[in-house]
Amino acid sequence: MENVKLNNGLTCPVVGIGTFMLSPADAENSVREALKMGYRLIDTANAYVNERAVGRGMKESGVARGEIFLSTKLWPSEYENENAVDETLERLGVDYVDLLYIHQPAGNWLAGYRQLEKAYKEGKAKSIGISNFEGKYIASLETKWEIAPQFIQVEAHPYFTQKELRRTLDKYGIRLMSWYPLGHGDKSLINEPIFAELGKKYGKTPAQVILRWHTQMGFVVIPGSKNVDHIRDNLNILDFTLTDEEMAKIAGLDKNERYYHRTDAQLVQFAAWKPSFEKE
Ligand SMILES: NC(=O)c1ccc[n+]([C@@H]2O[C@H](COP(=O)([O-])OP(=O)(O)OC[C@H]3O[C@@H](n4cnc5c(N)ncnc54)[C@H](OP(=O)(O)O)[C@@H]3O)[C@@H](O)[C@H]2O)c1
Repeated sequence: MENVKLNNGLTCPVVGIGTFMLSPADAENSVREALKMGYRLIDTANAYVNERAVGRGMKESGVARGEIFLSTKLWPSEYENENAVDETLERLGVDYVDLLYIHQPAGNWLAGYRQLEKAYKEGKAKSIGISNFEGKYIASLETKWEIAPQFIQVEAHPYFTQKELRRTLDKYGIRLMSWYPLGHGDKSLINEPIFAELGKKYGKTPAQVILRWHTQMGFVVIPGSKNVDHIRDNLNILDFTLTDEEMAKIAGLDKNERYYHRTDAQLVQFAAWKPSFEKE
């Protein structure tokens, strides 16, 4: 497994599995199977309401806790709950996470960030991150953080490469973790002819070429899947290298266009929404 070095000296695998929109049963299955086939990075969130299932999948895999890089996120309605971190750890069945994000710049997000810094100092989060904090949000946070984050998790794929944000990240050595790396299943991205062409050259699927592009951009990538064949394919991307010319051709697809457009009204809803956490 290739790893990237973080700005606090730790390392993180370049490929992992995401669990957004996976039911607890699917998340448990995907996490167990992914770890058994060699994945070492898992991404979940309070809001996915599958943290207990992720914890079960980790245990069932037989892979030692110390070998796994586990990432989760506090939801905005938890930012002022002083037990939010301990409750998250309890649901996951672990005594620390490798990466803890605040999920959205909603509600009292500074209180959320302070919880991350506290968890970091206490060893409950080995690294910390911000999710969906582009533009004015990271600009505001960078004047207030005591500990700079190790990661930002944002939408990124060949149609939307976060060019502007990356200038700020470079200042602090913050790593980008891509969400919607495959366009959330959108066929137009996967069906771009360049990916079929390069796939033919390297003996890979279009999805594998896209994921390799992410890692060569320096991004950490966490494709979501409940299909064991896709999960296997998504890990099998590190045995070929796109040339500079091929990377430049893919750069030509950038439309600076997101799939997901969040509104201010949604941020208000996010702050009010309380996940119905799994009881067991
Ligand atoms: N921080 C945030 O706000 C945020 C937002 C969205 C997502 N995320 C994180 O980012 C992760 C990735 O995003 P995502 O899961 O929404 O989108 P994605 O990874 O871009 O796409 C997932 C979709 O692609 C399909 N797929 C996966 N591997 C494939 C392959 N090799 N070939 C063809 N199709 C494939 C999956 O279907 P199958 O199940 O059939 O494989 C699923 O429909 C999430 O799981 C989550 O951890 C974070």
